[in-house]
Formats: sequence, structure tokens, C-alpha cells
Amino acid sequence: MVWRLLDAGETVIVIDRLSTGFDWAVPPEANLVIGDIGDQDLVAKVLREHAVEAVFHFAGSIVVPESVNDPLGYYLNNTVKSRALIEACVTAGVPHFIFSSTAAVYGTPVDNDPVAEDAALRPESPYGTSKLMTEMMLHDAAAAHPLNYACLRYFNVAGADPAGRTGQSTRDATHLIKVATQTALSKRPFMQVFGTDYPTPDGTCIRDYIHVTDLVEAHYLALQHLRSTGRNLVANCGYGHGHSVLEVVDVVRRMSGEDFEVRLTERRAGDAVTIVANSDRIKQELDWQPRYDDLEKIVTHALNWEAALTRRNTGPDSAK
Ligand code: UFG
Repeated sequence: MVWRLLDAGETVIVIDRLSTGFDWAVPPEANLVIGDIGDQDLVAKVLREHAVEAVFHFAGSIVVPESVNDPLGYYLNNTVKSRALIEACVTAGVPHFIFSSTAAVYGTPVDNDPVAEDAALRPESPYGTSKLMTEMMLHDAAAAHPLNYACLRYFNVAGADPAGRTGQSTRDATHLIKVATQTALSKRPFMQVFGTDYPTPDGTCIRDYIHVTDLVEAHYLALQHLRSTGRNLVANCGYGHGHSVLEVVDVVRRMSGEDFEVRLTERRAGDAVTIVANSDRIKQELDWQPRYDDLEKIVTHALNWEAALTRRNTGPDSAK
């Protein structure tokens, strides 16, 4: 997102406490302020000094099983700190707020059809609830104050910048495509497929994998939408069709040329069978036209980034 905004000639300030991220991931042209979004004095200072016009709120904890074990930690990091950030924006008079929400707000859809934004909101984890509560706060705050917002409900984000500038770098990642590409590059001895007895054609779960660059573009269009119309927006970010776990594994094997070991194991707790976005709204409201709706491209870009990370971590600067 930072690269996209800089490419468009915008001025960008990043606030990050670097609990899971890395300072090297922030482009040198952006200002990095190391700190916590829950620190209202810090946030107020940054908003004032840079006359900030829009906030993209990406900060948050994202591992569903972790949220089940540490719900209060998730409500603190995702909900309480979001409240602080929204309040700081209201106080500073920031007009636009774009929030990273999640498909987890829906829980398990009642049927396996693509889920639309007006479906029932029934999160099944503290993670999903913590994000939904932030959506609710934004709704109410925008009704009371001169603030407008976009909540973008992400489905399964994957891939990496096609130009190779950035990609998912989190340590101990649990996401399927990250795990599979790491296994293909021998960073893990094997990977597991969690459950092969689901009611799907090949017995494994189905997800709507969205390329990060298309997701970023949705944010950029949402910003333009808020600037030009001032209308709030809640929209799914997905392609509207899914792939099974075994399909993903097959594509990673083909694209990498590595026949890595895959162990078929028990179901993982809390996995929904199928979650696919109905993406009509974002296409209509933002004229969003995905460019990377292609699992082979998603996997290729993820593999390229994983290889770049290997070079970074073993290169001359790796000790820094
Ligand atoms: N999976 C495996 N092996 C792995 C990792 C994952 O088989 O090593 C399977 C999972 O069981 C699941 C599928 O791959 O069936 C996708 O799992 P991910 O962990 O990649 O992603 P999730 O669908 O569990 O979660 C993602 C986001 C969440 C978000 C959720 C909403 O990471 O933040 O989608 O659907 F809440």
C-alpha cells in the first residue's frame, strides 16, 4: 500500500511498533514513526504535524487460533487500540479512514455460496469479533462526526508485489500459500494439509485467494471514493471463486518444480469448509478490475518473494 501511494505521488507516514513487521519493509521515501497506534499523544502529534488527510488502519493481530487462546489480547490490540486511533482521527479532524476488516466477520456461511456484505455477521472467533467491533465503532463515529470510512473485508490475501519490492515477511507464518512456498524452497521439511474429508470435490477446504496487489488497488480506489463522494463503504475483497487446499499445493509444486512432501493430517480446529466472496459491490462501487485473478501468478509472485527473503536473510546485511 505504501509503495502504491508513493507511486501515485502521495505523501505517506507509517506508524508501526514493529512487533511483527520490519523497518526495512518501509520504503525510504515514506516516513516511519516507530510507535503504537494506541498511543494517542503520539498519533495526535503525527496527524497534526503532517496534516494527515486519510488513515489506512492495517495494524492488528490476525491469527485466528491465537485469538481463541488470548481473546483479551485480541480485544486490546484490535478493538481497544482501534478505538484510540479512531478517536485521535476524530479529534484531529481527519476526514477519511480505511480499515482492514476480514471475511471472519461472517463466520461460516450458511450455504457455500459466495457471501455478500448483507449476509448475517456471526464471527466465530475473538479475531472476527474484534474486527467487527471496530466496524461498528466506525459506523457510529462516522454518524456523529465529520468522518467517512471504508471497511474492506479481506478474504485470503496472498502473492507479493509483482515488481519484487515487498511481500509477506512475517516470522512463523501459518497461511497456506506462505507455508507451501517455504516448503518448496526447503525452509520447512514438509507441510500439512489439515483435513481431507470435507464436503468439497477433493475433500479439502476452499478459499478465495486474492493477490495483494489487487487488494492494494481496492484500497486506493476506496480512498478516491471517499475523497470524491464522502460515502461510507463496506465491501468484500475477493474474486468470487475459490481453490481447494490441494489445488493450491498442486500449483505451488508446478510453479516451483519441487515435489515437496505433503502430509495429509486431521482437520484444524475452527476451519470453515468454504468461504468465497461475492464481489459485486466492490466492482460496482469502485469499478475495481482485478489484474491478478490467477492462482499461478499469485503463487509465482509469492515464490519470487520467498526467494528474495532467503537472499536477504543470508546476504551480507542479514545480521543487522
Ligand atoms: N491450511 C493447510 N495447511 C497449512 C495452512 C493452511 O491445510 O499449513 C489450510 C487451512 O486448514 C485452511 C486453508 O488452508 O483450510 C487456508 O488457511 P489459512 O491459514 O491460509 O487461512 P484462513 O482461511 O484460515 O484464514 C484467512 C485469514 C484470516 C481470516 C480468514 C477469513 O488468515 O485472517 O481467512 O476467512 F480471518
